[in-house]
Amino acid sequence: MTDTLAIFGGSPVRTAPFLVEPMVDAEEERMVLEAVREKNFSRYIGSTEPNIETVLRLTSAEAAALEDYWHFLGGTNVRAFAAEFADMVGARFAVPINAATTGLSVALASAGVGPGDEVIVPAMSFTATASAVLLFNSIPVFVDVDPNSFCIDPSLIEAAITPRTRAIMPVHLTGNVADMDAILSIAERHGLAVIEDAAQAPGAKWRGRHVGTLGDVGVFSFQQSKNIMTGEGGMIVTDDAEIARRCRLILNHGEVVFDETHSPDELANIIGCNFRMPELCAAVGRAQLKKLDAVNAWRTRNADILREELANLPGLRLPPSQRHGNTPAEDVPHLFVALYEAATMGAPRSAFIAALRAEGVPVGTGYVRPMYANPTFLHQVAFGSEGCPWSCRRDGAAVAEPPRYAEGMCPVSERLLNEEFLWFYHIAHASTEADMHDIGRAVRKVVEHRSELSDLDEIALSGLGGKGQGRIGTGPKVEPSA
Ligand SMILES: Cc1ncc(COP(=O)(O)O)c(C=O)c1O
Repeated sequence: MTDTLAIFGGSPVRTAPFLVEPMVDAEEERMVLEAVREKNFSRYIGSTEPNIETVLRLTSAEAAALEDYWHFLGGTNVRAFAAEFADMVGARFAVPINAATTGLSVALASAGVGPGDEVIVPAMSFTATASAVLLFNSIPVFVDVDPNSFCIDPSLIEAAITPRTRAIMPVHLTGNVADMDAILSIAERHGLAVIEDAAQAPGAKWRGRHVGTLGDVGVFSFQQSKNIMTGEGGMIVTDDAEIARRCRLILNHGEVVFDETHSPDELANIIGCNFRMPELCAAVGRAQLKKLDAVNAWRTRNADILREELANLPGLRLPPSQRHGNTPAEDVPHLFVALYEAATMGAPRSAFIAALRAEGVPVGTGYVRPMYANPTFLHQVAFGSEGCPWSCRRDGAAVAEPPRYAEGMCPVSERLLNEEFLWFYHIAHASTEADMHDIGRAVRKVVEHRSELSDLDEIALSGLGGKGQGRIGTGPKVEPSA
C-alpha cells in the first residue's frame, strides 16, 4: 500500500503545478511585430462598391491574392489566415470571426435560421452552443448525448423534430466526432441545415474529411484554451457561396451594402453587427495554424499515455477511443475523459476528486450542468423578461407549444456531469510525459486507498471535491476552460 493519502496528512504525489499554455515561439512574435510595425491592426472597410456582390463571393484563396490595403473581407493577415485555414480543412470559404460563439450565431443566421425557428443541439456542451442559438431569436431544443462519444445521440434526434425545426447543430465534444453519417441523413430527410460546432476539434476527421466541412457550415474556436488559438477568435468554414456571402455581411455591418432593391428575405438577419477578427489575432492565428499538427500530436501522445496509466483500475472506466476503434472517426483528444463508477469505488465522486486534488492533480467534472438546466433556459428569460424568444414569434402569435426545459430531461448527460465525468485538461501543451505518469501514480494511489474515501466528511469535501474545472493544485498559469 502506498503512503497515507495527502487529504489525510500524507505527502502529495506532486507539488509542482502543471503547465498548460499555448505552443508559441518566435513565429508568433515575428508575425505580430510585423503587423505592429506596418500599423496594421484592422483594415476592414465598409463597401458601397458596385462590385460588392463579386467581392462577397470570392473564395478565401481569391480574396487573399488581392493586394488591397483596406478590404471588406479584412486586412492582409485576416484574408491570408482565412485562405490558409480553408486550405487546411479543404473548404472553399473560411470566414474569420471574433469568437466561435458569434461564429455559431452568424452561421445559423446565414443559413436562414431566424426568430422562432428551432435548432436541435446536444444537451451537453459548453454553454455557448445553446446561447449562440438565442442571438437571432431562435430556440434551442436539447437532445441527449451518446454515453461513449459524448456527442449528440442521433437515435433521439427525430423525436425532437417539430414543424418549426430548421437546423441540427452537432458538437464534436472533447475532440470526439459526432456520428455525421446519421446526422446528415436525418437532416436530408427533413430538409434541415447542419451547423457543426467544431470548437474543440480542429484536425479531427470523419471518413477522412475534416470536421466542420461535413455539414452546411462549421465553426472553430481559437480561444486560448483551444488546440490552436488567437487569444479570442474563431473561423466559419463552408463550401456554400451564399452562406459565405451572408456570413461576411452579417459580421461586418452588412446592412449598409443594401439598397431599396433588396427584398425582405435578403435583408433578414443582416443587421449591422461587428464581429470582425483583428489583424493581430489573425497574425497569431497564421503562426498557430502551422503548429496544429504538432499540438494535436502533443495532446494525442499524452492522452495515449494516460489511457495506459488509467487502464483496468477498479472504479474507473475509460470510454472507447474513436481513434483506436474501427470507426469512421479520427478524434483528436481536446482533453482526456475517464468515467467514475461510485458503486465499485465505494465513495461518491466528490470524495475521489477531493483526494486526487489533494495529491496535486487537478481534475474537473466537465460542465456544471446540462445547458437546459441553466437558469436562462429553465426560466426562459433571454431578451427582456417576457419570455423572448420562446413566446415572441415573427408572426406575432404566441408559440403554440414552445419547448420546455426541466431537470431530468436528458438522463445520460445528467449522469455524466453529476456522477461520472473526470476531465483531465493537462494533456495539452506543455504538460510532459512525466506529468502523465504523475497523474497515473496519483490516481492509482487514491484508487488503492478507496476504502478510506467514505471517511471523508462534508467539511473536507467542501471546496475540494466540488464540480467544475478543477484548478486546485495548479499554478496560476493553468486556467483551462473547454
Ligand atoms: C463546444 C464549444 N462551442 C463553442 C465555444 C465558444 O467558443 P468561443 O469561446 O470562441 O466563443 C466553445 C468554447 O469553449 C466550446 O467549447
